[in-house]
Amino acid sequence: MKRVLLVKGDLLLRVIVEKSAELAELRAASIVADLVRRNPQATLGLATGRTPTNVYRELVRMHCDSDLDFSQITTFNLDEYVGLGPKHPQSFRYFMQEHLFDHINIDAAKTFVPDGRALDFESHCRQYEQRIVDAGGIDLQFLGIGVDGHIAFNEPGSSLGSRTRLKTLSSETIGQNAKYFNGEPMPRLALTMGVGTILESQICLLLATGSHKASAIRSMIEGPVTAQITASALQLHREVIVIVDEKAGGWLERRDYYSEVEECTQLLESGQLRALGIGN
Ligand code: GLP
Repeated sequence: MKRVLLVKGDLLLRVIVEKSAELAELRAASIVADLVRRNPQATLGLATGRTPTNVYRELVRMHCDSDLDFSQITTFNLDEYVGLGPKHPQSFRYFMQEHLFDHINIDAAKTFVPDGRALDFESHCRQYEQRIVDAGGIDLQFLGIGVDGHIAFNEPGSSLGSRTRLKTLSSETIGQNAKYFNGEPMPRLALTMGVGTILESQICLLLATGSHKASAIRSMIEGPVTAQITASALQLHREVIVIVDEKAGGWLERRDYYSEVEECTQLLESGQLRALGIGN
């Protein structure tokens, strides 16, 4: 049977609602793994936080059980707390080592996380951007979302054209993340890729799970594009895949339509054209 391949750019904003957080995480992991298999030299943009933890666990499992090969992969992380070195357990470099890099065959020299101890912020951020360009740009940027709709550390009000830079964390973000610092004072500044940097990635893959993300997900997908919800800038990107569980997708008004699009996409991709009224 003839198989219709969707050409790049056809996907636009694809919203996939999975029944559970676990299924959403597995779906996200399989998209990353497919890219790594198709393009063993791919450049991945990576995220930290609670949301991606099980995705990394699944990628580690695929590496161990099915030889998923990361030896030629390059990675760029979205952000890092200012003041924290790689040995600090709350630094994003530490998180990446613990959850992914230490368990796969990635070349350490090809894993980039902004340096939280860099003092010349401006030149460090400029170099980070240049390194992304030198690597040929990011093929797939993996993202989570903050409860207020931010991506990376692009807090509400960030320029939608922003580049990697120093950012002051909002009191909401500090409130959300302080629990991980066990009473230790939390950094007030971060280095973060900008919204403009993220928008230049070939594909953006955003994962959200849990009812506390439902409002942010609705605003991001169905609200206006606004600097107050920096994730909404993804509406302007040409290839975004949003994977949510039923809880995070619970406030989406056009949820039925997204399911219909998914169904048609799968029929097209598997060549079941008659089911779509083509060639009857
Ligand atoms: C922080 C990170 C974001 C992340 C967000 C949500 O603000 N900078 O990249 O998406 O937290 O984190 P979690 O997945 O823990 O909810």
